[in-house]
Amino acid sequence: MLTLTSRSTVADLKSGPPGVMQTLISTGIFRDGDDPGVTIGELCWNFGFNPGILLNMLQSANITEDVPPIDIAPFKAMSLLELVEHIEDVHHRYLRENLPVLTSLTAQVATAHPEEGRLAALKLEMQHVATELESHLAHEEEALFAMIRDLAVHADVKPTRCGDAVGGPIACMETEHEAALGSLKKMREYTDGYAAPAGADATWQEMLAGVARFDQDMVEHMYKENKVLFPRALDAQLGKNR
Ligand SMILES: [Fe+2]
Ligand SMILES: [Fe+2]
Repeated sequence: MLTLTSRSTVADLKSGPPGVMQTLISTGIFRDGDDPGVTIGELCWNFGFNPGILLNMLQSANITEDVPPIDIAPFKAMSLLELVEHIEDVHHRYLRENLPVLTSLTAQVATAHPEEGRLAALKLEMQHVATELESHLAHEEEALFAMIRDLAVHADVKPTRCGDAVGGPIACMETEHEAALGSLKKMREYTDGYAAPAGADATWQEMLAGVARFDQDMVEHMYKENKVLFPRALDAQLGKNR
């Protein structure tokens, strides 16, 4: 949920639940293409709108729908070993295959449209998140997942570069997931939710579809790790679920 005040800008509103922007657009005092740096207070002043009423209207749409991105029941039903294999086979493999494609596509489109500053920002964010994820995947596979496999098979952990308890690397991975989520948020902003603008050529559209798929895959991947794998690994370490 956003914190809304008369000093909030339209750009701030765009990062909140979609209903907030829809409500603002419905008032007619802001249209797509207007300057998103304008504040609610300035808009109200310019259009003779009561800021208290507008803030109330926006607040009622300011609800984050906490809908899980996937049904996790099938993943809860897997053994710890199966779950680790699934995450590596599906999500880690997807990232290793697609991160180079996406960094190259975002760079290609940004070079072809130097007048679009947001494409340059998207390219840089994609490069940044790809580098971060490369080390994140290695960290998970070499340390945390190796420890989880040990727990699942031997009910014991061989020490790795992250020690001999899963809690340390899990906290580290959760922090990196938060950072990745921050990158996804920026990429959604730079592309207006991956919407192809009028006149976007085939490569531009292909790039946006690719980044949208990456976003979805990352959300599902992190959800499975944060909500199923990590809590179960902590339980297994405590001697439960053996
Ligand atoms: Fe992962
Ligand atoms: Fe992860």
